[in-house]
Order: sequence, then structure tokens, then C-alpha cells
Amino acid sequence: MAIRNIREIGDSVLTKVSREVKEVDKRLLVLIDDMLDTLYHAEGVGLAAPQIGVLKRVVVIDVSEEGNDPIILINPEIIATDGCQVGDEGCLSVPGKVGTVERPNYVKVKAYDKDMKEFTIEGTELLARALCHEIDHLNGILYVEKVTGDIRDVMSSEEVDEANEE
Ligand code: NI
Repeated sequence: MAIRNIREIGDSVLTKVSREVKEVDKRLLVLIDDMLDTLYHAEGVGLAAPQIGVLKRVVVIDVSEEGNDPIILINPEIIATDGCQVGDEGCLSVPGKVGTVERPNYVKVKAYDKDMKEFTIEGTELLARALCHEIDHLNGILYVEKVTGDIRDVMSSEEVDEANEE
């Protein structure tokens, strides 16, 4: 269990296509544990392996408020989409920024679990957005390529407090 360094935009690893996982070995289980540690430490919604410099098709997502409901996806693949949502999106690899991205409002994803058992997961709204965003990472795509309008700075809560005092 370890917190890994999150690669940031400009790092070429983020633009590469990740390789399919053929088998779940000890190293892959460590990778998944480390991805979860890194995700929760960074208080993110999702993390893809290339974001910690590993070009393997592994994604972790947790959209729960308590942060105790991890979804682990190996070799995920979108097999159906429906509808459309337009909303703000951020990325741990693009710190302090946010931009508006159009995504499907529903997605169905096929993936493998830690036992290499195939399963499907359906998501709407935030989960659908997270699934699309993280699977994009596996294909070397950052959300900034899909933004409509400007990429904006996120105010930290401290900055918001200061702005309110002024
Ligand atoms: Ni991201």
C-alpha cells in the first residue's frame, strides 16, 4: 500500500495508449491497492493507471460521498451509451483546473474484476462521466481535449473565503 506520484499534463505518459491486462498477478494487485490509496489521498473520483505512470488498462472509481465504495475495472470497454450531459469536469492530472465537457448521460461498460471475471456496470450522471473520463485516460486522452469553452481555474475553499471577506 502506497501513495504514488500523480503525473500531470505535459507528461508524455498521459498521451499514450495503455496495454490490456492479460493476467492478474501480485504486481497488479499491488498496483490496484496503490491506485486506491492514491485516489483517496488526492480526494478524487477516479484514477487510471497511466496517471501514476503505468500503461495498463486499469481504472479505479469511487463516486460515493463517503469514499468507501471503490469500483475496480480491468480492461474496461464502453459497450453502450445514451443521452447527453453537459457539465464541469476536472482531473487529478490537471490540478486546479476545470472545464465543461459533454458526455453521455448513461454508459454501460464491460470490464474484468480482480479474479479476471467479466462483469458489466451501468452508470448515469457522475458515474457515467467518470467512466468515460477514466477510459479516455487509457487511450491517452485528457478531458482538456474535449472541453467546450475555456479551461478555468478552480478557486480553493480558502480563496473563496478570502474573496467573501473582501
Ligand atoms: Ni483524469
